[in-house]
Amino acid sequence: ACGDASGSPLLDFKGVPVQLDPQFDRVLVAEGYTAVPFFSWGDPVEPGAPGWKPDASDDWRAQLKQAGDNHDGMNFFPFADESDRGLLVMNHEYVNPPLHPSGTIDLGKPRDPDEVRKEQAAHGVSVIEVRKDAQGRWQRVMDSPYNRRISMFTPMRLAGPLAGHPQMKTAADPRGLEVLGTLNNCATGVTPWGTFLTCEENWHNYFINRDRADYERRVSHKRYGLAREGASKNYAWETADPRFDATPYPEQPHGGFVNEPHRFGWVVEIDPFDPGSQPVKRTAFGRFSRECAALAMGDDGRMAFYSGDDAKGEYLYKFVPEGRFDAADPRASRDLLDAGTLYVARFDADGSGRWLALVHGQNGLSAESGFASQAEVLLNARAAADYVGATPLDRPEWTAVHPRSREVYISLTNNDERGETDPLDKANPRPKNLHGQILRFNEQDADPTASAFTWEVFLLAGERKGARDSSGQPVPTNLVSTIDGDLFSSPDGLAFDARGRLWIQTDYEDGEPAMRAMGCNQLLCADPRTREVRRFLVGPRGSEITGLAWSPDGRALWVNIQHPAISFPASDGKSRPRSSTVLVTRNDGGAI
Ligand code: FEO
Ligand code: CA
Ligand code: CA
Ligand code: CA
Repeated sequence: ACGDASGSPLLDFKGVPVQLDPQFDRVLVAEGYTAVPFFSWGDPVEPGAPGWKPDASDDWRAQLKQAGDNHDGMNFFPFADESDRGLLVMNHEYVNPPLHPSGTIDLGKPRDPDEVRKEQAAHGVSVIEVRKDAQGRWQRVMDSPYNRRISMFTPMRLAGPLAGHPQMKTAADPRGLEVLGTLNNCATGVTPWGTFLTCEENWHNYFINRDRADYERRVSHKRYGLAREGASKNYAWETADPRFDATPYPEQPHGGFVNEPHRFGWVVEIDPFDPGSQPVKRTAFGRFSRECAALAMGDDGRMAFYSGDDAKGEYLYKFVPEGRFDAADPRASRDLLDAGTLYVARFDADGSGRWLALVHGQNGLSAESGFASQAEVLLNARAAADYVGATPLDRPEWTAVHPRSREVYISLTNNDERGETDPLDKANPRPKNLHGQILRFNEQDADPTASAFTWEVFLLAGERKGARDSSGQPVPTNLVSTIDGDLFSSPDGLAFDARGRLWIQTDYEDGEPAMRAMGCNQLLCADPRTREVRRFLVGPRGSEITGLAWSPDGRALWVNIQHPAISFPASDGKSRPRSSTVLVTRNDGGAI
């Protein structure tokens, strides 16, 4: 290993330099390690899938069987008692214009239905089998029966308090029990019983409600920011697929698709080991722009799942299932996620914090305050959290739980409006916060179900103290970091490895003047005790680094490179950019 005697023994690699080249089109990893492309948009997944066509001429039927776009959160699921074989499961958050031969998506006119279908097919999740070959190298198993694509066409069961609720019924699903698809799947979680949790983030950008008066009084649309005129923000799917038009049309049964947006924003549970299983949307978790569902498990089998809600001034939540996990009877866990309590966090200035229950009949949540039932509390979780006085945060993204202490870390990626729309406070201390921060907290008695915690700022990201900007002016204090080690901005993905090192992934606009010193997006590693941070990997221009998973022996690390803006992974200056998973190994075969 390339130890660095001067620093933390946990950071046993030499940091890589910031990459400032505007044409940087590779993945650079620390000396002594190698990163190779492993799984890219368009690669075959399901049986009969054609290979990716460089001119993007694959149609939506091909795309349904190929890897989706915008690889994001990811987990590795080993087969029982097999450390050299497993399922890599990852989100495909959204799509980029190079999905189409033209390389453009024009929202100014009605969309081509086949293009919309291809975009819908490229959303969702991939399940791929991977195993070590005779030389000990990880390879895909191309003909595995577990290989599966989940997309916007996959039927999913609604479960929990909102299943069959009147607010979930649409013209296409009058029972309110089955939804087609999942979208904007960002971060993830895993359950102790071996299922994958995929989280629906910016679903509001796929819908529009053009009825002004209806929009104003419908909390479930307005509080979440659906479009109200023009086209839905992301892809104007409503011009080719009516279920994305959530305007109430009285002539349609069940209000047409006014309730369709209620069927997104959930945690979706997928059993990767049962390729025929139907994914399940677990509504007990509440509805918001959900980032992740990071598990902490207590000694008695009681659990908490932590989630951010990635928008300016939104909140940190945790869901505590009513039941306990019983390792002796994992099948009994099947529907553990359908009953439990949703909480939202309040961070107090003295370093203490409270979990406020979002439960009908508690904390003033009642019909009088606008919540007719528990179902409506969950459907409008953001409004319920407003009501109980949760702390608005600087865009809460991922959470990660330390494998031994259960200390929880949360990335607050940035908030350029802090100090304007929400006041400064100890957890969100900088006005116009372009660089973000990481908080950490400990539940009382390390009990994931506790109602109180203590917290602190782990670090503020940004520039070095005393740095000067491109015009020679001192960098303003709100952009100065507390980082001990390598600089970064906008922490997003977070994960602990088995050794208790915190890995930090970044998502910032690498061309912005304020990011001049940061270069391309990065994966860094931090020692939670000393707070030292070291840069391990840098991605190509325009890409975000997101999603990471380890093999059981810790010798393989998969990392996702999302939306590169330059030819990648071809790195030949002409091939179209493809979101990709890269496989990182150590050249001497040791643990990462
Ligand atoms: Fe999809 Fe908040 O990142
Ligand atoms: Ca993210
Ligand atoms: Ca982000
Ligand atoms: Ca992203």
